[in-house]
Amino acid sequence: MIYGQRIRFRGIERDDLPTFVKWINDPEVKAGIGIYRPYSQAEEDDWFEEMLKHPPDEHVLAIEIRTQGESEGILAEDVTDPGSESWKLIGSCGFFKIDTRNRGAEFGINIGEKRYWHQGYGTEAVRLLVSYGFETLNLHRIFLRVFETNQRAIRAYEKAGFIHEGRQRQAEFRDGRYIDVLVMSILSDES
Ligand SMILES: CC(C)(COP(=O)(O)OP(=O)(O)OC[C@H]1O[C@@H](n2cnc3c(N)ncnc32)[C@H](O)[C@@H]1OP(=O)(O)O)[C@@H](O)C(=O)NCCC(=O)NCCS
Repeated sequence: MIYGQRIRFRGIERDDLPTFVKWINDPEVKAGIGIYRPYSQAEEDDWFEEMLKHPPDEHVLAIEIRTQGESEGILAEDVTDPGSESWKLIGSCGFFKIDTRNRGAEFGINIGEKRYWHQGYGTEAVRLLVSYGFETLNLHRIFLRVFETNQRAIRAYEKAGFIHEGRQRQAEFRDGRYIDVLVMSILSDES
């Protein structure tokens, strides 16, 4: 486990996959990610098997939030006994295409549980992943690509210290129009 203040990362399990499929098919979530068409459980199962063949540092991590006791911002239905350690899956994140020579990597994040948007969890998860990337994986540069229309994500990345680096003009076709894809990055001495 990788522990943050209110969240933790753990490895993903096959049991998580139906939840991921549900999230990916949510139009509001889909608008921010690379998948643009209906997505099936079979595709997700194939993706999972392929992911397991990648280097372990590129395996996707589950994002969970602490739900016991009086944790701030937790919905009443998710609150558990203060005495019991309890966590709720709200999303996933991870590095891919780790470049071992240049010590660089791209990362992605999806908080699919929309009820937990806009409570700082996205920013906290990005910060935690970045510090894991620099302090444990010994990365030097972490970058991401984000649609210009995804202002929520852009704001979260800015708050986590990412710098606007470039703009891939009209690189994505969505909803009948081309949109720009922004490139943002953070270096190890900037976190
Ligand atoms: C993008 C994502 C990770 C952000 O997570 P989150 O927990 O909602 O983010 P945070 O609460 O930490 O921060 C969001 C910030 O965006 C701001 N924001 C929200 N909607 C906004 C909008 N339409 N325009 C501008 N800012 C907006 C919030 O006010 C907040 O900033 P603040 O703290 O200064 O007020 C999450 O929404 C998500 O996973 N979405 C679906 C998948 C996705 O788009 N992934 C990213 C692909 S690049």
